[in-house]
Amino acid sequence: MSSGDQLTRLAVVGQGYVGLPLAIRAVEVGFDVVGLDVDPERIKRLSAGSSYVEDIPDEQLERALESGRYLPTEDPEQIAGFDVSVIDVPTPLSEGVPNLSFVEGAATTVGRHLRPGGTVILESTSYPGTTEELVAPILEGGSGLTAGRDFQLGYSPERIDPGNRSWRLENTPKVVSGIDDASLKAVQEFYDRIVERTVPVSGTREAELTKLLENTFRHVNIALVNELAMFAAELEIDVWEAIDAASTKPFGYLRFTPGPGVGGHCLPIDPSYLSWKVRRTLGVPFRFVELANDVNEHMPDYVVRRLLLAFNGMGRTVQGSRILILGLAYKRNTGDARESPGSVIAEALTALGATVRVVDPHLALESVPYPLVELTAGEVAEADGVLIVTDHDAFDYQLVQRHASYVLDTRNRLDGPTVDRL
Ligand SMILES: NC(=O)c1ccc[n+]([C@@H]2O[C@H](COP(=O)([O-])OP(=O)(O)OC[C@H]3O[C@@H](n4cnc5c(N)ncnc54)[C@H](O)[C@@H]3O)[C@@H](O)[C@H]2O)c1
Repeated sequence: MSSGDQLTRLAVVGQGYVGLPLAIRAVEVGFDVVGLDVDPERIKRLSAGSSYVEDIPDEQLERALESGRYLPTEDPEQIAGFDVSVIDVPTPLSEGVPNLSFVEGAATTVGRHLRPGGTVILESTSYPGTTEELVAPILEGGSGLTAGRDFQLGYSPERIDPGNRSWRLENTPKVVSGIDDASLKAVQEFYDRIVERTVPVSGTREAELTKLLENTFRHVNIALVNELAMFAAELEIDVWEAIDAASTKPFGYLRFTPGPGVGGHCLPIDPSYLSWKVRRTLGVPFRFVELANDVNEHMPDYVVRRLLLAFNGMGRTVQGSRILILGLAYKRNTGDARESPGSVIAEALTALGATVRVVDPHLALESVPYPLVELTAGEVAEADGVLIVTDHDAFDYQLVQRHASYVLDTRNRLDGPTVDRL
């Protein structure tokens, strides 16, 4: 500890989409921050001032480095002596089952460097019980200390929304929790310095469930409008118009829109952490999650089918045709193609014999296994069909409208005689 009794040394374990913004924000509010990651490429880039997270521009990263209070490193020894350590590592599914090996690995590292009085916070999304049942014993085993008595432990779900310029880490309320009162106090005091508003809940399991509730809510509602969109297309009803009209209701309705499927590492994954826990502990299925998975996972296939039907109607085949996909990232204005429905669609079209070309200004050449091209009049005109998968703001939609012979628009950006919407 230094400067009065303010805690100043922060170790953020995992420097990805969640950990990096936290580390940089902490530097900006005065912490000394070690950003630990096991990926040497990521550490090399961060050390050179090159950010791979779009919400953190290079200039902001460079300022943090120049302050002398941000150290990106692969060396776990550098976190020794931390006051607060936050764990931001991936929590994927492996064969449909939660894979907590990254959390276990991170907790092992943190446990080795935990000293009496330290505070550890898990931010990775996981099922209720993870902090107390999995993380606490690992930290205790590695440090020889007792959670609650010798160190504080808590959970705070991350709500970061990549690409969202209005709601950022600092102005999004942060739910905080601890395994006991002293832990809650320590966790809340930490985030009170990072964000504008903290929301304490009574226990870590309530905080863990909060995150899963938020994501399951989105997942289920997206599935609802996706299923509706498929029926509406058959019934020849404009689902988009109905959604716009319903959205005028000032209470009791929240707007969700259909799309080519859900992507990223939250919506397709987090609800399954909850259904896994419910099934394992209570022996019953979480029916809403399972149904939503079913509908949302089907959407890329549905998009391919719509394209096949449209080509059939025009007397053409998808086989041998050239399809220009707009937007391969799973989300508008981001460069994250993890679990993206666009990739599933591109693969399926390729398997059907189409030549796929991709326009996505947010993606790096090496991350796209298809020709990554510019959105030009020639490129659009030469395509047999344009498929709008992710509606980045950077696209010139009027150019697409003017030059495309056929467009399948899954995001309701275009209208007209050559455009089919989902
Ligand atoms: N990205 C989001 O929008 C978002 C939002 C809310 C919650 N979350 C959750 O936050 C967690 C992290 O997600 P992310 O998107 O930042 O993941 P990410 O893959 O972008 O970053 C995680 C980083 O952790 C590193 N790592 C893995 N094991 C490590 C270890 N033992 N020690 C040090 N570093 C290690 C990886 O190399 C990687 O760089 C996940 O549980 C995710 O579900 C993500």
